[in-house]
Amino acid sequence: MSYLTLAGLQKRYRDSVAVDDVSLSVEQGESVALLGPSGCGKTTTLRMLAGLVDPDAGTIRLDGAEITRLPAHRRNMGYVFQSYALFPHLSVARNVGFGLEERRVGRAETGRRVEEALGMVRLSGLEGRRPRELSGGQQQRVALARALVIRPSVLLLDESLSNLDAKLRDAMRHEIRDIQRSLGITTLFVTHDQVEALTMCDRIAVMKRGRIEQIGTPEDIYERPATRFVADFVGRANVLPADRDAKGGISVWGVTLPARAPQGGEVDVFVRPQRVRLVPVSEPAGEGMVRLTGRVERSVFVGDHVEVIVAGTGGQLSVEMQSGARPPADGTEVAALWQARDTLVFPREAP
Ligand SMILES: Nc1ncnc2c1ncn2[C@@H]1O[C@H](COP(=O)(O)OP(=O)(O)OP(=O)(O)O)[C@@H](O)[C@H]1O
Ligand SMILES: [Mg+2]
Repeated sequence: MSYLTLAGLQKRYRDSVAVDDVSLSVEQGESVALLGPSGCGKTTTLRMLAGLVDPDAGTIRLDGAEITRLPAHRRNMGYVFQSYALFPHLSVARNVGFGLEERRVGRAETGRRVEEALGMVRLSGLEGRRPRELSGGQQQRVALARALVIRPSVLLLDESLSNLDAKLRDAMRHEIRDIQRSLGITTLFVTHDQVEALTMCDRIAVMKRGRIEQIGTPEDIYERPATRFVADFVGRANVLPADRDAKGGISVWGVTLPARAPQGGEVDVFVRPQRVRLVPVSEPAGEGMVRLTGRVERSVFVGDHVEVIVAGTGGQLSVEMQSGARPPADGTEVAALWQARDTLVFPREAP
């Protein structure tokens, strides 16, 4: 039996279904990301876990006990809100110690644990400041310390890094991951940022319209997306309209692919831009490779890579080259190669 289990969770609002049958099992010490587009039910799921929203159906079990109707303050969950939600009139130390005061932990013990929590988020020395005297990133860390100080059974993070600049966000990602790992805190965090999901967790649950579309390791989700939605939402992908031939094979830009297609209906082929390699047209395809030809339309320098757009008979193909690599000049005829196993085929979506 898993440490934390959500089974058939559902939440309806008057005119909409926010969460429509979410089931998920999380092991102790595991970090799971809820990833999905705006409005798919991530926050509602987290709030049901925290006891801030009552589910209409389904159960939540923690460490062997059912907690579905247990009041929030008896769940021992640390919740970091997107908006920080710090008390503006209280010092950093009192903000962090608030949950301990509520739990009637003694003063000396509170002081010690507040110190420890502030140390963890590298804010020692700022105990006496008010939230308005801190930067956004520091406030964020106060909110994290406040959640950690109660030694939560489960840590819930809702878009907790979304208001930080890219550099600080990156640093905080690693900091939180280190704290989570070293303390072995079971963590669920919500994000619509796929890099965050891919780097900060053991498993990702991709959500769509109140349901979990796929659960798996970051690698599973990225390399073996179960549905078109997941392939499209996580990572970048070329979507190439495919044709079926009489024998049930599929072709793109007139080239037959060594890939299998689902039964019936129109299909599209997905391939990640960084899996495609450009070579001179004289170079043949190797064993197990897909090879399309086209003309370089343009190259765009994007910092950590160069994006090359290749135009072929059936449309465009985006290719990611490592920066430093010199892209072929515009107008050059090229062959685009990728491993057949990097080809994903999904039913075409109704418009
Ligand atoms: N209190 C509420 N009353 C009515 N509808 C609500 C309420 N809270 C959420 N919803 C609706 O439920 C759906 C899911 O909302 P939720 O906040 O869980 O989404 P989310 O995945 O967290 O999105 P975002 O990424 O934008 O934060 C949305 O359609 C939202 O409008
Ligand atoms: Mg939300």
